[in-house]
Amino acid sequence: MTESFQRYLRAKRTVDDRALDRRLIDMLREQLAARAADTDGPLRVLEIGAGIGTMLARLLEWDVLPAGELRYTAVDIRSENVARLPDYLRDWAAQGGLSVGDSPLVLESETRRIRVETVQAEAVAYAESADGESDLLIGAALLDILDREQLATLLEPLAPGGLYYFPITFDGATRFQPAHPADRAVERHYHDHMDAKRGGDSRAGGDVLARLHGLDGATLAAVAGSDWVVRPVDGSYPADEAYFLRHILDTIEDAVGEMTGSGFEELDTWLSSRREQVAAAELLYHTHQLDFLGSVDS
Ligand SMILES: C[S@@+](CC[C@H](N)C(=O)[O-])C[C@H]1O[C@@H](n2cnc3c(N)ncnc32)[C@H](O)[C@@H]1O
Repeated sequence: MTESFQRYLRAKRTVDDRALDRRLIDMLREQLAARAADTDGPLRVLEIGAGIGTMLARLLEWDVLPAGELRYTAVDIRSENVARLPDYLRDWAAQGGLSVGDSPLVLESETRRIRVETVQAEAVAYAESADGESDLLIGAALLDILDREQLATLLEPLAPGGLYYFPITFDGATRFQPAHPADRAVERHYHDHMDAKRGGDSRAGGDVLARLHGLDGATLAAVAGSDWVVRPVDGSYPADEAYFLRHILDTIEDAVGEMTGSGFEELDTWLSSRREQVAAAELLYHTHQLDFLGSVDS
C-alpha cells in the first residue's frame, strides 16, 4: 500500500508538471527573489503534506527558489512518506549533479545550499505550534483533504509578508474518454465519497477561492486552473503515467465500492473497460484543479 502510494506520487510528478500554472510559478519566482533580496538570513520554506518531496525537486529544477542559503521543512502526516523523502531527494540530486550531505540532509550546488528537515506531523497541529518565521508556505494537492475551516491557522507559520502557494486543489470534475454510459454515475459516487470524508470536498477549489478571497490579514494575488490531462502520446503514456491511471482506477474502485456496496452493478464492467483502455493506451483522463498564490500582510 505504502509502496504503491509512493509510486503514485512519483508518477504524479509529470502530470503535475504539465498542469501547474506557469504564470503563478513565474510570480512565485519573482516574489521569492524580492524577499531574498530583503532578507539577511536564509529563506525559510515550509511544505505541508509534502509526500515524498517532488515539489522541492521541481522548484529547484525550475529555478523558482532563489540562489543562496535556504531552509526547507517538509511536513507529512504519514511517517513512511517522511522516511522516504530523503532517499527520493538523494536520488534526484545525484541525477542532477547536486552534492548531498547527510544529517542534516543538505543539497548543494555552486549557487545554492538547501538544508532539508523532515517532520512527521499533522499539518494544522504543526501550524499551531510553528514559530511564524516562514517566508513561503506550500500545500500541494492538499486543501481538498484538509479541514478548510482551519485555513487561517495554516497560515500562522508565515512571517509578516510571507507567501503561500496552494497548487493542485481539486475542484469537482473527474472525466474519462472515450465516453461510457456509467461515467456520470461513477463520477457522482466517487465525489460523494470525497464529500463524506472528514475535511474532504469534491468542490474544494471553489471553497478555497471564496475563503482566501475574503480572508482578513492576507491577500490572494493570483488564481488559475491546473487541470490534469493524461493521454497517450505516440501510442503510449509518458513516463509512469499508465501506473498513475491504474492507481486512480483502484482508488475509484475502493471509493465507489464503499459508497454503493454491491448496489452498483455497472461498476465492474466500467472498471474492466477502463483498465483495458489503459493497457491499450486508449484512455484519456481529465480533472479540474485550481492553484492559489498569495501572501499574509506585512
Ligand atoms: C495527495 S498527496 C500530495 C503529496 C504532495 N504534496 C504532492 O503533490 O505530490 C497528500 C499528502 O498529504 C499528506 N497528508 C494528508 N493529510 C495530512 C494532514 N492532515 N497533515 C499533514 N499531511 C497530510 C498525505 O500523507 C500525502 O502525502
